[in-house]
Amino acid sequence: MRMQDSRVAVYAGSFDPITNGHLDLLDRALKIFDNIIIAVAENPAKKPLFTLDERLELIRASLLTHAEPNRIQVDSFQGLLVDYVERTGAVAILRGLRAVSDFEYEFQMALMNRKLSRKPETMYLMTGARWIYISSRIIKEVVQAGGCVTGLVPEAVEHKLQTKFRP
Ligand code: PNS
Repeated sequence: MRMQDSRVAVYAGSFDPITNGHLDLLDRALKIFDNIIIAVAENPAKKPLFTLDERLELIRASLLTHAEPNRIQVDSFQGLLVDYVERTGAVAILRGLRAVSDFEYEFQMALMNRKLSRKPETMYLMTGARWIYISSRIIKEVVQAGGCVTGLVPEAVEHKLQTKFRP
């Protein structure tokens, strides 16, 4: 999907699964960019809990009531992120930054992406304070151990997690 005459950012990640922290970042990024493409990495090496189709479906379900659905696309990619970004015509890669612990990995990734392509800039938004302790990994861990994640993930995600761990 290539869009011209608009400032597009690619919000890339595993989204295994999408959380309210991701959605908060998306809403804030929509104040800066005209359009955002949520790009789910296939990344078979990562062994995600949810299949690619499930992750895409959960993102779409989480956006059903979004106020500006026309400005958001949901897509997936294989291979290098910078190659995907170039195909879309996006000007930026969007990532969220939580605590200092995220920094090293994100810095490495941003520099590697810049080495691979000078075109897109990686832009970081600080995660909203309400969501600072949330990650997809910790959400999965909590549900698997029987804990409650209501209010931390979209309803569709909470439901899917429960059926995954307690079928
Ligand atoms: O949500 P995640 O798992 O932290 O997202 C990481 C992701 C998918 C953005 C990153 O692994 C990625 O870009 N993968 C695609 C392969 C690639 O381009 N690798 C080089 C970037 S360092």
